[in-house]
Amino acid sequence: MAKYRLLFVQILLGFSFSTMVAPSHAEDTRQAIWLNAVEREVLLIEMRNFLRGSQEVLDYALKDDMALVHRTANPIGTKMLKNLPKEMTDKMPKSFYAMLKTLHYGFAEIADISKSPTAESKVVLQKLANMQKLCVGCHANFQLKIK
Ligand code: HEC
Repeated sequence: MAKYRLLFVQILLGFSFSTMVAPSHAEDTRQAIWLNAVEREVLLIEMRNFLRGSQEVLDYALKDDMALVHRTANPIGTKMLKNLPKEMTDKMPKSFYAMLKTLHYGFAEIADISKSPTAESKVVLQKLANMQKLCVGCHANFQLKIK
């Protein structure tokens, strides 16, 4: 019994140490992009559209419903990119803007592919999987800050 109690205490201690220590080491070293509050909100709205868009493309492609894939992907394509004000995109590092652009072009390409009567859902799914590498890569390297 005593043995188990000791084990329990060790687990508890280990747990509280790890939760105590982790936050002080969790420093965000990603490159900062300085935007004003409105610009930051615009970009975060765009991000939530990306999340919703990629979930819907996945869902509709799995159901083989290319008309719905098209309806989702089309507005997130190049149209949305053109809506970003120049003063805002000027504040973005080149590599950041390049990834953002590539992602929008990816949705435009999915919109194109899904228009064809011979469209294959597997092609759309592969394209989406490749595009999600941009989500992962960009989030690992950049953060937004307000100035
Ligand atoms: C060009 C870079 C870039 C790409 C590509 C990118 N993101 Fe983001 N995203 C960011 C940054 C920067 C933030 C803010 C992170 C921070 O400040 O901690 C963000 C934040 C978000 C948020 C949080 C939104 C909120 O309301 O707070 C979501 C959700 C998100 N991204 C989804 C996605 C998805 C899904 C994709 C891919 C389909 C994607 N992003 C691609 C840069 C990018």
